[in-house]
Amino acid sequence: MIFLELGRQPLANGFLTKSQFSEEIFYDLKMNFDEETKLVSLVEQPSKEILFNENYPYHSSCSATMRKHFKDIANEINKFNPKLILEIGSNDGVFIRHFDPKQIIAVEPCGNFASFTRDLGYQTYNEFWTNDIAQKIVENHGKVDVVYAANCMCHIMDIEATFKSISEVLSPDGVFIFEDPSLQEVLETITYDQFYDEHAHLFSIIALKKLLERNELKIFKIEKTSVHGGSNRIYAGHSHDIQESVDYFIWKELETGLQDIETYYKFTQQVQKSKNDLISLLEKSKDKCVIGYGATSKSTIIYNYCNIDSNLVKYVIDTTPDKQNKYTPGTHIPILSPEIGWNDSVDMAFLGAWNYLDEILSKEINFRSRGGKFITHKNGIFII
Ligand code: TMP
Repeated sequence: MIFLELGRQPLANGFLTKSQFSEEIFYDLKMNFDEETKLVSLVEQPSKEILFNENYPYHSSCSATMRKHFKDIANEINKFNPKLILEIGSNDGVFIRHFDPKQIIAVEPCGNFASFTRDLGYQTYNEFWTNDIAQKIVENHGKVDVVYAANCMCHIMDIEATFKSISEVLSPDGVFIFEDPSLQEVLETITYDQFYDEHAHLFSIIALKKLLERNELKIFKIEKTSVHGGSNRIYAGHSHDIQESVDYFIWKELETGLQDIETYYKFTQQVQKSKNDLISLLEKSKDKCVIGYGATSKSTIIYNYCNIDSNLVKYVIDTTPDKQNKYTPGTHIPILSPEIGWNDSVDMAFLGAWNYLDEILSKEINFRSRGGKFITHKNGIFII
């Protein structure tokens, strides 16, 4: 059942130059709730080769928050001294770099990152995860003790086939650890911009439990993490005792109504209000210098759904060199480096990178102490 339509959208990470405007790709962003599995998924996803290729701009190590996040989980995994680890979706190596190259195998479809981690000495298969690559890994290396995937499973449309092949690659007492944005968090905080082309699904535990169990994997532990706007880290395996956290998370989701389409319809009304409130705040602030802070994939959704262009948000600043001097997808707001754009003329900054709020507030004390304000759409439209 379709419950949310966010209109014609460009590729969320498709930051582009002026000469590329005429070739821009658009698709209809609609979200579906599957009554049987309770899985929330995109109705239409642009092809994976268009989304994940050698031009993929998102670097997992782009922020101190993410570098610490991956270091912490790598240290946790290392305590168990696993003989062989596999990371699916290794990006720029922010996780694997904490392991000995003999101990870890990486799979990464984006060519730019695969060659980067190969150069660091890590065996990296430059491929999309498929059953074929799973079999190749078992033939070449044997079964794996830990499969780790961060913000990657939610990218894969054929999720059941993926869980099946991971189940086959995992040793009998191996652990599959994966983390993805939490659907519950999205609904509670009205962060509808988590719905974008790369997120084929936003998972509830209720749906994951069903899909994993169909493929001989049982969730035995769940942790909440604060990254990517609030994520769940799921531990699944063939033979582990189920811990209390699993029942707790499921109970919370049932309380929120994640099993019920009515909950999603109510969410859609909140999304429409969020859009109206943001537009009217930006319209009212037209005499001020309002910019965007962080050219994120998520902000692409907001700018396009709310028709926000450079008349309402003058430009966007971003620390990623690959995005600078380009334009935001769809509504074509210029992107500048903070060195150029983050100056005393800025009155208000819309937080495209709202998922790094703590990091940003602590480093931008001067902006707020001179009267600058951040705008966020999380939990409704707020000025902070
Ligand atoms: P993400 O939301 O997809 O993780 O992308 C984060 C983007 O935000 C990335 O391009 C870097 C940018 N960013 C800044 O420009 N300044 C910051 O202080 C932080 C934390 C992120």
